[in-house]
This record gives sequence, structure tokens and C-alpha cells, in this order.
Amino acid sequence: MNSHSSSVHIEVANVYKTFGKASLKKTVLHGIDLQIGRGEMVALLGASGSGKSTLMRILNGLHSLDATEGAVVKIDGQVLQESGRLSPQVRAIRSRIATIFQQFNLVGRMKVVTNVSVGALYPLPLWRTLIGLFPRTTELKSLQALHQVGILDQAYKRARSLSGGQQQRVAIARAIAQGADLILADEPIASLDPESSRKVMELLVRLNQDHNCTVLVSLHQVAVALKYCSRVVALKDGRIVYDGPTAALTESQLKDLYGSDSDLVFDDLETSPGKSKQAKTSSKDIPVFNTEPSRSSHEVYAS
Ligand SMILES: Nc1ncnc2c1ncn2[C@@H]1O[C@H](COP(=O)(O)OP(=O)(O)OP(=O)(O)O)[C@@H](O)[C@H]1O
Ligand SMILES: [Mg+2]
Repeated sequence: MNSHSSSVHIEVANVYKTFGKASLKKTVLHGIDLQIGRGEMVALLGASGSGKSTLMRILNGLHSLDATEGAVVKIDGQVLQESGRLSPQVRAIRSRIATIFQQFNLVGRMKVVTNVSVGALYPLPLWRTLIGLFPRTTELKSLQALHQVGILDQAYKRARSLSGGQQQRVAIARAIAQGADLILADEPIASLDPESSRKVMELLVRLNQDHNCTVLVSLHQVAVALKYCSRVVALKDGRIVYDGPTAALTESQLKDLYGSDSDLVFDDLETSPGKSKQAKTSSKDIPVFNTEPSRSSHEVYAS
């Protein structure tokens, strides 16, 4: 938790999520309890199918949780959903949550600046959103946000003409224009090359450090979690199996988390700048990392 943190931003208690009906029922989250403080930057790790995206979607109200007694999701102290029901305040609460997806979720044929402006629309009536009629101040705010992420020069191009890394920066600009103070980033770098990944992660760090945004970011790359996030929450088969400092994760915990995919994780660590030189040879129960997470974001604007 950084020095700005003072209150609980995300509060999750007794969350279960079941998909399907009758014999096709499948419970994918099993009693999740989690608290994340305002201003924290937390990595959500776990093998494919462990429930990361489902949890993210519960946190922004896109999935409803099971109607279990005591099940609640609160954002900034306000109930977002409780025992299977979304709060009537969901639109207002969501207006301060930005979700960033692996596949960017931009409207490709629309201009970049219009895609960004969509983030700042909550107070406007729906009809203005639908016809894309934004006040001039919204457009200015969007241009400022594009400047902050280093792609102001792309503002009037169609979103689909941008590279993947640029499109993800548009998604981050949308979060800035929205004025979100909670960023849920679901594998934001999974489709990006290493250089674009670095820029996107550094922008998230910057939002966290300079704007005191709370960031929950799901990642497949443990090395990236190590570099940018001081806390890890790890899911396995829909349960939290680790919640603590990134630096204290052990090799055996990682092996347990990723099962047969853990070789990939260790290959990933081999190329991590923050990796302990002893990682591969260390005892299974001592931490595989020997460095503090890097919090540098000075090169964010270099594009
Ligand atoms: N809409 C849905 N209907 C039915 N099952 C679903 C649905 N969404 C997710 N699941 C199932 O829930 C489980 C968890 O999926 P989820 O997408 O949350 O995992 P994940 O950790 O995000 O995986 P990945 O790393 O591959 O993105 C999986 O078994 C998945 O098949
Ligand atoms: Mg997922």
C-alpha cells in the first residue's frame, strides 16, 4: 500500500459465482474475501480459468454474484452488489471505475478522441452518448488525456488504424478522461509486444502514484507483477490461495499456482530484470525474488 492509502476501496465478502443451470451448473468463485486499500496497485495472478476475469467482472457489476448470505461487493464503502442484486446506484459507482481489457474494447471505426470521450459521458443523457454529441469541454479533456499517454498526434485517426500498444493507451486515456479512481485492468498487456507492455504498465503505475488511483491488474506474467506491483492476490480454481507481498512469493507457491504451466512462468522470470539470480536454484520455500518492485515511471511519455 502506498503512502496515500488510508481507506478500503474494494471490499469483497463471501463472493460465490455460479454459471449455468441445473446439471450444467458450475461454481467458478468459491467464497472470495478480499480488501484492497485506496491507492494500492495489486496484481491478480492465476492460471487460465482460475477466475480472474470473472472476479473483475463482479467488481464492476458486469456479472452478478450468487445470492449467498452475506455476499457483498462494496466500492469506496458503497454497496455495488449484495446477495445477487445490483445496487440502484450501480451506474454512478461504475462511473468511477475504468475497465481495461486485453482486446482494448474500442470502436474501431470511430475516431480516437471520440473513443476517449465515451469515458467521460456518465453525467450526460444517454441520447447524447448515442449520437456522439459531446460538449467541447469533453473533447478538450480527451485531448489532454491523449497527451498524457503520449499519443495526442493520433487523436483524429480511426481507432482501428492504431497499433495494439497505441490502442491500449487510448483505453488508458479513456480512463483518465473518465476521472476514474479505480482501474480494473484485465490482462492489459497480453496482446502487446514487450516495449508496448512496458509503456502500458508504466502508465498504470503513473495513474496509481500520481493520481492515487487504485489499480487491480490481472497478469499472466509473474515477472511483470514483480516489477510493478507490491502485492499479489493469486487465484486457484476460484479460491484465493495467496494474498501478500509479491516479494514473498515462493517457487513452490508459483508451481502450485500454475501447475503444468509453471515452466513458462520460470522462463518468464529468467528474463525479468528484477529477478533473483538464485531463483532457479533456490530452496522451494524461500522467496524467488530478492528485489523491491520497481516503481519508476519516468519514461512514460517517450513514445
Ligand atoms: N459466461 C460464462 N459462462 C459459463 N462459464 C464461464 C463464463 N465465464 C467464465 N466461465 C468459466 O469460469 C471459469 C473462470 O473463467 P475466467 O474467464 O474468469 O478465468 P481467467 O482466470 O480469467 O482465465 P484466463 O487467464 O484464461 O483469462 C472458467 O472455467 C470459464 O470457463
Ligand atoms: Mg481472463
